[in-house]
Amino acid sequence: MKKEKLDLTSPDLQKFIFYLSNGQTAMITCSNKENTERGIISVSWITPTSFDPFLMSIVMAKGTKGSPTYRYSYALINETGEFGINIPSKELKHAVLKVGTKHGDEVDKFVDAGLTPFYGGGITPPLIEECFLNIECKVLQEFDTGDHAVIVGKPVAVLYDVGVFAEGSFQQKYTDKNNQIHFIDILPNMV
Ligand SMILES: Cc1cc2nc3c(=O)[nH]c(=O)nc-3n(C[C@H](O)[C@H](O)[C@H](O)COP(=O)(O)O)c2cc1C
Repeated sequence: MKKEKLDLTSPDLQKFIFYLSNGQTAMITCSNKENTERGIISVSWITPTSFDPFLMSIVMAKGTKGSPTYRYSYALINETGEFGINIPSKELKHAVLKVGTKHGDEVDKFVDAGLTPFYGGGITPPLIEECFLNIECKVLQEFDTGDHAVIVGKPVAVLYDVGVFAEGSFQQKYTDKNNQIHFIDILPNMV
């Protein structure tokens, strides 16, 4: 799918920030510095945390290998200080479940979940082609919140599939809650 790039100085940015405020589950992409190791993690704890500057925060567990709070992705994000936010629509529900129940140091999740990497140019980690909205972020700050950390990222680029956002609004398909993935939709498959 051909992607368009949002002008981060345009007034449309506020509409994207509002759009990202509805609790949709994201797939976060990450890599090591050499980009020889790459990871994807499903994250439902994600929100904008500032309009100006535009900031996005994700909450990620940071336990050690073998513990339920182990996240391989956390180590990769720490290494590069970069991550991608990728917003999937409903047809990627099974990919979100796969990505959110396996560890990236045991399986290449792009292959396992049938997702295609592409590069936006602003960060080292890849983004996910099949996701209709992709945001490249650089880590600005991190806050320890117990067994998780809030990672605050500064978006350097916002990309979206052609047609998703046009003439100042999101297409109805993308504002329809039935086409979005929320944690509650995945929960029955997890317990
Ligand atoms: C729908 C869904 C949402 C999730 N949300 C989060 C989250 O917000 N933060 C987090 O640390 N883990 C979350 N997880 C768990 C991780 O995605 C999961 O532990 C993953 O296997 C970690 O992969 P990694 O070890 O390759 O980093 C979620 C899982 C699912 C299925």
